[in-house]
Amino acid sequence: MFNNQTITRLQQIETPFYYYDLEVLNNSLLACKQASSKYGYHVHYAMKANFNNKVLNAIQQFGFGADCVSGNEVKAAIEYGFDKNNIVFAGVGKSDKEINLALDTDIFCFNAESVEELFVIDELAKAKNKIANIAIRINPNVDAHTHHFITTGLDENKFGINTWQLDDVVKTLRNCSHLQFLGIHFHIGSQITDMEVYKNLCTRINEIQDWFAEKGFVVKILNVGGGLGVDYYNPDTNAISDFESYFKVFNQFLNVRVDQEVHFELGRALVAQSSALIARVLYVKNGLKKNFLVLDAGMTELIRPMLYQAYHQIENLSRNGESGNITEDNTPGLSIGKNVIQYDIVGPICESTDCFRKDVEMPISFRGDLIAIRTTGAYGEVMASSYNLRDRVKSVYSN
Ligand code: LLP
Repeated sequence: MFNNQTITRLQQIETPFYYYDLEVLNNSLLACKQASSKYGYHVHYAMKANFNNKVLNAIQQFGFGADCVSGNEVKAAIEYGFDKNNIVFAGVGKSDKEINLALDTDIFCFNAESVEELFVIDELAKAKNKIANIAIRINPNVDAHTHHFITTGLDENKFGINTWQLDDVVKTLRNCSHLQFLGIHFHIGSQITDMEVYKNLCTRINEIQDWFAEKGFVVKILNVGGGLGVDYYNPDTNAISDFESYFKVFNQFLNVRVDQEVHFELGRALVAQSSALIARVLYVKNGLKKNFLVLDAGMTELIRPMLYQAYHQIENLSRNGESGNITEDNTPGLSIGKNVIQYDIVGPICESTDCFRKDVEMPISFRGDLIAIRTTGAYGEVMASSYNLRDRVKSVYSN
């Protein structure tokens, strides 16, 4: 991502900023497109991962649909030229205003998350004399084996409709004249790298779709959600997620009936590796117990480490791009030596939790050094805040 020319260019720019490598983005989109097309799968991009304008333009041009979780995301999808017939709208708390907007926009489908929501969509659709397409988001109680803050498909999670409520769902669908049942929807969590999890999901979906068929419902769409993870430890050598294996699992284990469509909602895997947060060392604090690198970026620009204990690789671009890598099994990538020292890498925000990583082995660093925090293309910029009345951060692009 960073050759000498790029680093020289980035040195001239006021920090902090998000740097987007559009080639990495395009390679990832292409790999996903090719792997999914093999099976005729439809991919909706989960816009929540990143709604930067260049990113959205690129994704739209690849012909992906849009998976939205707010009225404003639906609006943005339309503005960026996504086909309304390829827009789905999920979310556990859709407001009346948002539902009305989606109805007025004639989006493809609502992913409904409760029986109460079905009644509300029916009533609002009736008032507009429209029929709303519905997929039922079902909580399959399948463990995603990911961080508990980003697990969504267990009984204790707020998302989706539990299977023991499906009798009610079926009754409601039969009674609501302005709903058109299209299919079933699942999303069990994010940053999933174990393909076994998806195999388990397929098994559950097969059972649930059989249940609907027994009740006389035609399940036209199987929407299996997103969640495919990326390699935060090796952003360069593993810049593209394993789309091949991912789609293959569904091809092997999901029972797809004639005329059924399989839909996906990928976010992170498409965009995460395309961006890095670039910051400067403001101060080096050498303490008795700890050494700190105080950066000019903090939790306001990237909250994932603070919120989910997420690992992001950190590199000092001014010192040959050397990084204080550890491998996933925690083996230090650099042994402490002459030019290497352990730092806690922290931001400027007035919160103790404003720390990107502790005890990182880094080349000895100095005020003004340029630091790259890798793999921030998903849930980086979009989760930024102006806490401490900080400036919103700009984006810089490779071309
Ligand atoms: N579909 C639904 C219904 C979702 O809720 C999500 C993500 C996705 C698709 C896309 O999931 P992905 O392919 O990106 O894993 N902020 C957290 C991740 C939250 C994910 C929320 N839902 C993080 O930084 O790890």
